[in-house]
Amino acid sequence: MTASKESPVPRNGSLFDLAGKVILVTGSTGGLGSAIARGLAENGATVVLNGRNREKLDATVEGFREAGLDAHGAVFDVTDFDSIHARIKRIESGIGPIEVLVNNAGITRRASLEVLEESDWREVIDTNLTAAFLVAKAVVPGMIERRRGKIINIGSLMSELGRATTGAYAASKGGIKMLTRAMTADWAVHNIQVNAIGPGYFATQLTRPLVENQEFTDWLNKRTPVGRWGRPEELIGTAVFFSSAASDFVNGQILYVDGGIQAVL
Ligand SMILES: NC(=O)c1ccc[n+]([C@@H]2O[C@H](COP(=O)([O-])OP(=O)(O)OC[C@H]3O[C@@H](n4cnc5c(N)ncnc54)[C@H](OP(=O)(O)O)[C@@H]3O)[C@@H](O)[C@H]2O)c1
Repeated sequence: MTASKESPVPRNGSLFDLAGKVILVTGSTGGLGSAIARGLAENGATVVLNGRNREKLDATVEGFREAGLDAHGAVFDVTDFDSIHARIKRIESGIGPIEVLVNNAGITRRASLEVLEESDWREVIDTNLTAAFLVAKAVVPGMIERRRGKIINIGSLMSELGRATTGAYAASKGGIKMLTRAMTADWAVHNIQVNAIGPGYFATQLTRPLVENQEFTDWLNKRTPVGRWGRPEELIGTAVFFSSAASDFVNGQILYVDGGIQAVL
């Protein structure tokens, strides 16, 4: 059998071009989701931003539009399946079929496991892990029908490593790694590529208590080979890669963007 010589590069375009692609980024009213969505929009995508807080969402969409980017907002809670379903339907009929889903919304509750409340455990697992399944479940039938699509799950350094007081979070992110592989097992055959990004430490609202803790920052700067916190926009390259034709034969991978923490003891 000979390999096809057909090029995946769109005519007049680049392998990384996102022009015309509708991309939903959950939890994108701030932090990493907002930076990723902005980078995708700057590379030509039509982005749909999401969060629970309408005012924050409207302000973020407005900021994107003022920068000349094609952005829309969809307010919903990623843990609420009925509202996810209704919103996905509205996005697809009003804006267009979702070609890329970025499962980014996430929270943490810091406490040692023996004192962590059951409700906090459930909230973290629901938001970080179950929601990635629920949103994908609402989006994927259309992708299967169109025979193309991409899903990017946001994992974490903690998909691999534990740390004191982050038990529920690490369990949820370890789950994201296996969910990425499980989705690949079910959906690769439909020409849907599912991959994950595993960020190291980035300064956002989520990590604010750590950023403000000088002892932690000193430890992190020593522990990270590049010697600093990550900048949210440093995730854009990986997000563009996983959203574009450049990753059409990349399936079930988790790419760590962590300044080398996992590579070095
Ligand atoms: N920052 C890091 O160092 C780091 C490292 C590794 C992985 N991550 C992961 O990256 C993702 C983003 O983290 P971040 O640091 O950017 O956090 P962040 O600054 O706290 O932002 C979280 C976003 O998620 C939204 N959100 C939270 N719960 C939601 C829900 N139930 N439904 C819909 N939206 C929800 C928030 O908006 P509303 O509150 O308005 O809903 C906000 O837009 C998370 O999955 C996190 O685990 C972060």
